[in-house]
Amino acid sequence: MKKTRIIGAGFCVPDNVVTNDDLSKMMDTSDEWIYSRSGIKERRWADEKTTTSDLAYEASYRAIKQAQIDPDEIDMIVVGTLSSDYFFPGVSAQLQERLNLRNVAAFDIKAACSAFVYSLSIADQFIKTGAAKTILIIGAETQTKLIEKSTEGRDIAVLFGDGAGAAVLQTSSNESCILSTHLHSEGKDLKNLWMEAPGTVENGWVDDAKIFKSKFTPKMNGKEVFRSAVTRFPEVINEALKHNDIKIEDVKLIVPHQANFRISEAVAKRLGVDTEKVYSNIHKYGNTTAASIPIALCEALEQNRISKGDIIILAAFGAGYTWASAAIRW
Ligand code: UT7
Repeated sequence: MKKTRIIGAGFCVPDNVVTNDDLSKMMDTSDEWIYSRSGIKERRWADEKTTTSDLAYEASYRAIKQAQIDPDEIDMIVVGTLSSDYFFPGVSAQLQERLNLRNVAAFDIKAACSAFVYSLSIADQFIKTGAAKTILIIGAETQTKLIEKSTEGRDIAVLFGDGAGAAVLQTSSNESCILSTHLHSEGKDLKNLWMEAPGTVENGWVDDAKIFKSKFTPKMNGKEVFRSAVTRFPEVINEALKHNDIKIEDVKLIVPHQANFRISEAVAKRLGVDTEKVYSNIHKYGNTTAASIPIALCEALEQNRISKGDIIILAAFGAGYTWASAAIRW
């Protein structure tokens, strides 16, 4: 069986910084409330003209440049997003065109905050079996266009931000490789974190979208999501450890989905590790859903938190619920 490794990564966030104080001018909230509950200080919001595919394109361009490959080598594009430019087709088709790639397979997956790890796993399967040699994966969002920027939507509005991260995966010829991926879902509580429209359950919204307006913004039962997250993160990280017959001490860095600093603290506590071992950049970007893990991975690499030979674990939890982990030897 072949092995897969990440040969390049890149990210892109919009220039527009929105601080907690900026938000407190738009809705009834405060820096104290937001920071103490989530660890977030600021986030990026895409302007009206910037789309998810714009951020995805830029992140992909940077990842391809770092990978030092000819874009013609790319065999497949997988995009994780819940805020695609259009309801269909996906951002992946736009990237095929904008990056001027061959007519390769391109598809989007809707696994919310777990979408990047899901994409990584899909790419790993194709490369391991020899069905593909080089795959571009992306997590990208401009989800703040969907949120209600008022007191009514404040529980969601203060947490989320926009951005994109990408990675190029290729067949590995050395020790550096994806060691394992584990993917999970449980749909019974899907309404704890969801956006109902546009969907096909509700008839009539096309004719009178105003009546259904509130269904076009994400809704979250924050306490329940929090409770599940602090259980599922350690569970899926432990699954990776067990599968690879390694201990948490063997892991250099955990790069989790950036949902809430308090969730990361709780995960560190449950794993019995220092909070420092769980990478965090949520203070700068908030929760960027599918983009948060690749952005965090890029920054951890830039800060030399990961060296050749280190084992790292990516871990995700989000809407669905979906949750996932990937153990990687760098
Ligand atoms: O990407 C994965 C998905 N998302 C997550 O993982 C998020 C998981 N959940 C969380 O991170 C937390 O539950 C939150 C940060 C969303 C909320 O923190 P909390 O400690 O659960 O908040 P709380 O229940 O202590 O506070 C809720 C109160 C409510 O007021 P009452 O009913 O207690 O009077 C809300 O109306 O805080 C109020 N509230 C706010 N106040 C100021 C809700 N949002 C805000 C806000 N500013 N932005």
